[in-house]
Amino acid sequence: MPPGSTIGILGGGQLGRMTALAARHMGYRIATLDPAPDAPCAQVADHRFTAALDDVAAARRLAAISDVVTYEFENVAEPVAAALEELAVVRPSSRVLAVAQNRVREKETLAALGLPVASFRPVASLAELEAAAAEVGYPCLLKTATGGYDGKGQRWLHGPADVVAAWEWASAQYPGQERSEAVGEGPRFILEARVPFVRELSVIVARNPQGMTSVYPVAENIHRRQILHASIVPARVSPAVAQAAQALAVRLAEGLEAVGVLGVELFLTADDRLYVNEFAPRPHNSGHYTIEACATSQFQQHVRTVCGLPLGSTDLLRPAVMINLLGQHIPRMHAAVAHLLAIEGLHLHVYGKAEARRDRKMGHLTILAESVEEALARAQQAWDLVRAPDDPPAVA
Ligand SMILES: Nc1ncnc2c1ncn2[C@@H]1O[C@H](COP(=O)(O)OP(=O)(O)OP(=O)(O)O)[C@@H](O)[C@H]1O
Ligand SMILES: [Mg+2]
Repeated sequence: MPPGSTIGILGGGQLGRMTALAARHMGYRIATLDPAPDAPCAQVADHRFTAALDDVAAARRLAAISDVVTYEFENVAEPVAAALEELAVVRPSSRVLAVAQNRVREKETLAALGLPVASFRPVASLAELEAAAAEVGYPCLLKTATGGYDGKGQRWLHGPADVVAAWEWASAQYPGQERSEAVGEGPRFILEARVPFVRELSVIVARNPQGMTSVYPVAENIHRRQILHASIVPARVSPAVAQAAQALAVRLAEGLEAVGVLGVELFLTADDRLYVNEFAPRPHNSGHYTIEACATSQFQQHVRTVCGLPLGSTDLLRPAVMINLLGQHIPRMHAAVAHLLAIEGLHLHVYGKAEARRDRKMGHLTILAESVEEALARAQQAWDLVRAPDDPPAVA
C-alpha cells in the first residue's frame, strides 16, 4: 500500500495519534473512528467518524474508505472486527486480536508457543478459584479475562482466607453478567502465580506481511500504582538477558504470524529467568522512547508493517528515559514548560486531550543522553518540575 493510501484507525487516543503523525510523514491519509469528535487522533486525521467503538455500521464506513485498517486498543468487539475484515485488510488480524483481548486465551497461546509464563488456571466459579489457588500457591493474582488495563480488574490473594472475598470482588467485575460463567467462549477469570520479579521489561517487535521481523532494544519499566511511570532504555540487564527477551518477543510475533507492531511485557527474576506477562497487538506506551531514540519509531514501523513495506532499522541512537505525564502533572507542566524545555535532550509530547483527569495519560517526556545514568539525571530534573505532591520524589 503506497503512500497516498488511506489507513483507517479504530480508536482515537494517543497511540492512534502518534501512528497517524508517523503515517502523515510518509504521505498516507488517515481515517479514524472515536466517540469523541476532538479525540487526539481525530485532531490529526483526514477523515473522522464520530461513533461508539462498538458501532458496527460506523466501523463499516471506516473500512469502506480505508485501504488497510488498524486499531489502537485491543478491546475491539468481535462483530466490529468481523465487519472490518469483510471490507478491508485488518492488521494485526482478528485472530491476533482474539488472543490479545482474553487473558486466558493469551496465556494458553503463549504457553503453547513454548514461551515461559507464570503458572495459571482459568477460573469460572468459587470452587474453581479455591482449587486453582491451592494449585498455583499463594500469593496469587486473580485477573478478569477481559477488559483490564493499568492494573484494573486484578486482585491479590495472600492465603486461603482471601478466597471468598476475592470471589465476591470477582462477581462484581462483569456488571449485568453476574450469572454467566464465561465471557465469549471462555471462563471469566484467570488466576496467576506471583512472579517474584526484580525488573519489569518490555520489547517492541514488528512483523510485516512478508514475515520479516525486527525487534527493538529492551525497555525497563517502572510502574507506580499499576500505571506505567517511566521506561529506561537500554534496560539495566545483562546482554544475555536482553537478547533472550528480544528472542522471546520475536518468537511470539512469528508464532502468532502477527502483522503489525506488538508490545511484549516481561518479568525478570533475580536468577535471570524471564516470563512473558502479556502482549499488546499495537504500539505500546513503553515504546514511546523510539520516536526520538531509535532510527525508526514504533509508530512508523507499525505503518510500515500494516502497509506491507520493508521494516526500518531499530537501532538505538542514544540512551533514553521516558516519563508519562498524567492528568495530575499537567498544571505543573504548564507552569514549568520553559524550564522543562531548557533541559538538554528533552522532548515534550502532549496528546491534545481536553480534560486532565487524575491518572489519565496526557503526554510524555523523552530525555536522551550519552548514557542511561545521564538520561536518568536529566529525567530527575524534569520529574522535579512536574511531579505531583503525592508522587515519590525519585524519578526511578
Ligand atoms: N503474575 C504476576 N506476578 C507478579 N506481578 C504481576 C503479575 N501479573 C501482573 N503483575 C503486576 O501487575 C501489573 C499489571 O498487570 P498486567 O500487565 O497483566 O495488567 P494490565 O492491567 O493489563 O496492565 P496494562 O496497563 O499493561 O495493560 C504488572 O505490570 C505487574 O506489575
Ligand atoms: Mg501490562
